[in-house]
Amino acid sequence: MAETTDQAMTLFSPYKMGKFNLSHRVVLAPMTRCRALNGIPGPALATYYAQRSTPGGFLISEGTTVSPTGPGFPHVPGIYTEEQVEAWKKVVDAVHAKGAIIFCQLWHVGRASHPVYQPGGAAPISSTSKPISKRWRVLLPDGNYGTYPNPRPLETHEIPEVVEDYRRSALNAIRAGFDGIEIHGAHGYLIDQFLKDGINDRTDEYGGSVANRCRFLMQVVQAVVGAIGAGRVAVRISPAIDHLDAMDSNPLGLGLAVIERINKLQSDLGAKLSYLHITQPRYTAYGQTESGRPGSEEEEAQLMRSLRKSYQGTFMCSGGFTRELGMQAIAQGDADLVSYGRLFISNPDLVLRFKVDAPLNKYIRKAFYTQDPVVGYTDYPFLNKGSEPLSRL
Ligand SMILES: Cc1cc2nc3c(=O)[nH]c(=O)nc-3n(C[C@H](O)[C@H](O)[C@H](O)COP(=O)(O)O)c2cc1C
Repeated sequence: MAETTDQAMTLFSPYKMGKFNLSHRVVLAPMTRCRALNGIPGPALATYYAQRSTPGGFLISEGTTVSPTGPGFPHVPGIYTEEQVEAWKKVVDAVHAKGAIIFCQLWHVGRASHPVYQPGGAAPISSTSKPISKRWRVLLPDGNYGTYPNPRPLETHEIPEVVEDYRRSALNAIRAGFDGIEIHGAHGYLIDQFLKDGINDRTDEYGGSVANRCRFLMQVVQAVVGAIGAGRVAVRISPAIDHLDAMDSNPLGLGLAVIERINKLQSDLGAKLSYLHITQPRYTAYGQTESGRPGSEEEEAQLMRSLRKSYQGTFMCSGGFTRELGMQAIAQGDADLVSYGRLFISNPDLVLRFKVDAPLNKYIRKAFYTQDPVVGYTDYPFLNKGSEPLSRL
């Protein structure tokens, strides 16, 4: 599936990702933006995603919750009710009208929530009863930050119900017109709470050995693949990222263990997943460093290259990429696709800007998670429209 000659490859070389013909490799990374009022994507989302669409471009939606216990931020969209499915159709149609391809990222935050987001004000669910430490803060609906509460560990018999939530949501995503789904197994959210030995302290078949810690993710992957087909399913993991205390004592070993299982599934099925998406340890957000385990750039490159080499399929990476670093990663064969987050927030026409090597708009961090449908969301200037830079925030 990966192209064979790396030499002449750039971010603008076309790429065949299974059944999808991509015209370039600059992908919109999944990003929570808190603009889906009461969990329903509205017209603002259609404008936002359409702005970032190019013919043959590939977009991944913001984290989209699979059940009422899924959210941990204000006004994030879901895909578990009919109303949500209907609302997403308009967003997806706007993206398709521009000739782009879009996957829905399926998300459950697990313990990274707060009773205020939970049905009946209950404790959030997780693999564990340990809360996220005070190093991290939960964004509350009033815009203030609070402390993460004690979660409730899922009973073993409840886990299949959560797997079923992912399966149903994947089917809903396809009904809404999405071209596929990405399973969010990264960044300290529910699936990562099972994967990482710094969090998962279970004594049942979902805890302990790395095989047991991978079980929940792989059950989700299998259920979703069974529902919508491997070619429409992708997985995101971040084995070396400690976001929300998601530490593992052996990030490379964990990454390789997940990859080994996905490779085996692919070989059993005789079909490949769409792609594997890995977050670089160097990714930083919220003004805090999320450097994963301390290590040099060289160690990081080694980790990413080992994972890349082991995975038998399309490899996407994300985290701190500039135009130059993306070009380099593609040219060196370190990745097939590169997803861009923050630069894509502030540059709706990032693909064009990269193509002509134009200057970039700066992103406004404090508007990442605000609710205004325009400000800091759809009002970043385009190169060719020359509107005024943002000055209101
Ligand atoms: C505002 C914001 C929201 C994000 N939300 C998500 C999300 O919902 N799902 C996810 O997998 N990653 C999320 N991320 C991580 C991005 O997908 C991306 O990996 C990260 O921003 C690093 O890439 P960058 O350096 O190009 O910004 C988010 C990042 C930002 C800045």
